[in-house]
Amino acid sequence: MAIFINEENKQFHLQGKNISYVFHVMKNGQLGQLYIGKRLRNRTDFSHLSKVEHRVASSYVYEEDPSFSLDLLKQEYPSYGTSDYREPAFQLLQPNGSRVSNFTYRSHEVIQGKPKLEGLPATYTESEEEAETLIIHLFDDVTQLDLELMYSIYHDRNVVARSARFINNGKETHKLQRALSTSVDFPDAEYDLIQLSGSWSRERHVHERRLQQGIQSITSTRGTSSSQHNPFLALKRRETTEHHGEVFGFSLVYSGNFLAQVEVDHYENARVSMGINPFDFSWKLEPGQAFQTPEAVIAYSDQGMNGLSQTYHDLYQKRLARGQWRDRARPTLINNWEATYFDFNEEKLLSIAEKSNELGIELFVLDDGWFGKRNDDTTSLGDWFVDEEKLPNGLAPLAEKINDMGMMFGLWFEPEMISRESTLFEQHPEWIIHVPKRHPSTGRHQLVLDFSNPEVVDYIYESMAAILSEANIDYVKWDMNRYMTEIGSVAHESDRQMEVPHRYILGVYSLYERLLESFPHVLFESCASGGARFDPGMLYYAPQGWTSDDTDAMERLSIQYGTSMVYPLSSMGAHVSAVPNHQVKRMTSLKTRGDVAYFGAFGYELDVTEMTEWEQRQIKEQVNWYKEHRELFQYGQFYRLISPFEEDRNETSWMVVSDDKDKAIVGLYQILARPNPGFDRLRLTGLDPDIEYRVEGFEGTYFGDELMQAGLQLESAYNGAQTGGIEESGDFSSKLFVLSKVNES
Ligand code: DGJ
Repeated sequence: MAIFINEENKQFHLQGKNISYVFHVMKNGQLGQLYIGKRLRNRTDFSHLSKVEHRVASSYVYEEDPSFSLDLLKQEYPSYGTSDYREPAFQLLQPNGSRVSNFTYRSHEVIQGKPKLEGLPATYTESEEEAETLIIHLFDDVTQLDLELMYSIYHDRNVVARSARFINNGKETHKLQRALSTSVDFPDAEYDLIQLSGSWSRERHVHERRLQQGIQSITSTRGTSSSQHNPFLALKRRETTEHHGEVFGFSLVYSGNFLAQVEVDHYENARVSMGINPFDFSWKLEPGQAFQTPEAVIAYSDQGMNGLSQTYHDLYQKRLARGQWRDRARPTLINNWEATYFDFNEEKLLSIAEKSNELGIELFVLDDGWFGKRNDDTTSLGDWFVDEEKLPNGLAPLAEKINDMGMMFGLWFEPEMISRESTLFEQHPEWIIHVPKRHPSTGRHQLVLDFSNPEVVDYIYESMAAILSEANIDYVKWDMNRYMTEIGSVAHESDRQMEVPHRYILGVYSLYERLLESFPHVLFESCASGGARFDPGMLYYAPQGWTSDDTDAMERLSIQYGTSMVYPLSSMGAHVSAVPNHQVKRMTSLKTRGDVAYFGAFGYELDVTEMTEWEQRQIKEQVNWYKEHRELFQYGQFYRLISPFEEDRNETSWMVVSDDKDKAIVGLYQILARPNPGFDRLRLTGLDPDIEYRVEGFEGTYFGDELMQAGLQLESAYNGAQTGGIEESGDFSSKLFVLSKVNES
């Protein structure tokens, strides 16, 4: 059993594989937090864990009990205005101007499995035995609003998935000013906060800071989860390392404006809050209406950051991503963007496809520029009709020719955008996100379509469905290249304008849902100027995402390392591109570029027809080699060994291990060559100590315990042999070690 309930003192103990989450009904009828952390045995009473004493400066609920102050107590879904001065989980504005509410316990129910969240992405179960869900029903008798808090616990995982739902069963209209997905009060603040932050072309770098009294938060106000911050935070103990020690993760299954925050109070309690960003948000709740928050996934590990990542990888790969491509080997692809940008015709595309096919690449992706009159980025978004000047025969014959070669065909769309210079804009200038009488700012010369308006979403669905039905398309790259400004929609009343960013995201989700339903065979790859919307919400629809526009191998070390904190390798689009690299102009060898990109959903983004014969042979070898090992790269267990975020970093290393531990591949990357280096050993992890491994290129055999304890002796690595071109250079170099079990026979 995963959920223990003490009916008498109303205590709830959610027990997962190695996690316990305990809360109870407090004496005022609200919910109080008792424990979150490593799995505890169940007992009838945990209420001693909530014990606090009276403190002079606090306000208290009952005149006769000065120790019952909400400012001192740990809570489950704290409200505003009744003796707790920390930031609440929600705030309800009522017709009389009051923001005070009091949701008290009414009843609870336990459901086998995990119900869907209407209109929103969420983790799921495939059988009822996998998880149990506890729903607590609370009620505020002044407003007559119901509140349902939903908690799902998987028997075999270390996660608790939480969400909240407000239902207006009263007679008046109210406004939710804040409606977070989760709030957890930790009894101390001895943690370091980990966040994944950056910007375009340097997304999801790992940042770490010590918690301090006050609020520390990361947010997005850009309309998408953003490349600036990812909807994730972790709290790790100071002594926690990559592979040892305790850490809690909070990850939001959402793709819009979010808040992830830790507030440390005056008694060193740490309150974690996560959900839709309350800034510039409100939701009008009329009688009979309900509001569902997105889901937050809380994870626990006592195996360090890597343990936490593996918990998320497994859950997100198997029970968040969906559809026909979820468990399938992802095809190697070639994308024409950096090869041609907007300058191509059918002949050019076919020449790239033909050569790629010869080299063993399986999927040809036609990127931006195939529609309207799009010869640069100033026009045509919204006009999803083939450009007959570039492709006089249309898309279907192009796809057919590519299919006839034996390759799959994929196509780029940017469904949420509109160019001012487009037929769609001429017909529907009101279909943009804007505020009447205010100048709409542009980004990359484009405006954002009003996806909060279902009419717009319907139109885009029809345009995309027509293309997807007309040609044989196996893959769609769904791009999104600007953030929102002047947020408003003429489709909604004035008092619903602050609902627009959330309604927009619901519109995006609904379009994905409809397309997946009509075209279930299509592999979607999400993209937003690279990785500006690389979040769990997107993973529910698109099992892989374009990790970053930055394909420089050295930059990718940091980006892929940071991304792997939460997201599985199968979700990370990783391509080899040309040198000098188009983003940072760096020269790196084809080997290094390949060795980095293998650790993801692998592909190329260059003009293969322009490469030398030697390079083409190399690519052919890379493709064949990746195909041989792709199951391991895409679905193996991932371990980080050396961080690129260490001070004075010069090396990065990571590895993948098969589930049965018979095979492993290690990547070791060096930024600059070191003269006359020491005799380094690389200590591996995740192997079976009792298995005898052969390491390609090394003599003899090694047991797993040796490789993990003593390490792999890096014989003559980087010894300064600087002959030849950049292929042999020690700068920006890489090594792969392939381990396989020695067969006993
Ligand atoms: C931004 C994407 O990240 C690129 O890969 C490419 O698809 C361009 N947009 C096309 O405009």
